[in-house]
Amino acid sequence: MTVYLGADHGGFELKEALKKHLDAEGYKTVDCGTDSTQSVDYAPIAEKTCLGVLADEGGLGILCCGTGIGMSMAANKVKGIRAACCSDYFSAKYTRLHNNANILCLGGRVVGAGLAAELTDVFLKTEFEGGRHQRRIDQITEIENK
Ligand code: RB5
Repeated sequence: MTVYLGADHGGFELKEALKKHLDAEGYKTVDCGTDSTQSVDYAPIAEKTCLGVLADEGGLGILCCGTGIGMSMAANKVKGIRAACCSDYFSAKYTRLHNNANILCLGGRVVGAGLAAELTDVFLKTEFEGGRHQRRIDQITEIENK
């Protein structure tokens, strides 16, 4: 599986830590920027990362900003993206099981690198349950298509 990574300055260091972690775990990663702690706007990076995920069936993404919230707001404006901002293990797992989230958003000023690696691992390894949850995802898509 390829993991698409994106961050603004607030999430840059966390993205770099996660990239190393994912490389060590054997994942292929695509870095959609940014490449320093210099201030940069998060929305274009969110969009670029989301387009990478959408173009790659089965691909998933990780977006980092200071809180994870701006990235999640921007990502969820991209049709076909279900982005979840998580800082606990249960949510990172269940957003895959029940919401079929395809992007995990993390706050570089909220979670440490160790917790972020755990959240990322469970997010990437957990499969969507389908069933009744597919109907609910379809309802989200219907809203998106209005
Ligand atoms: C940048 O200072 C910060 O606003 C951004 O990283 C993010 O937290 C926005 O949601």
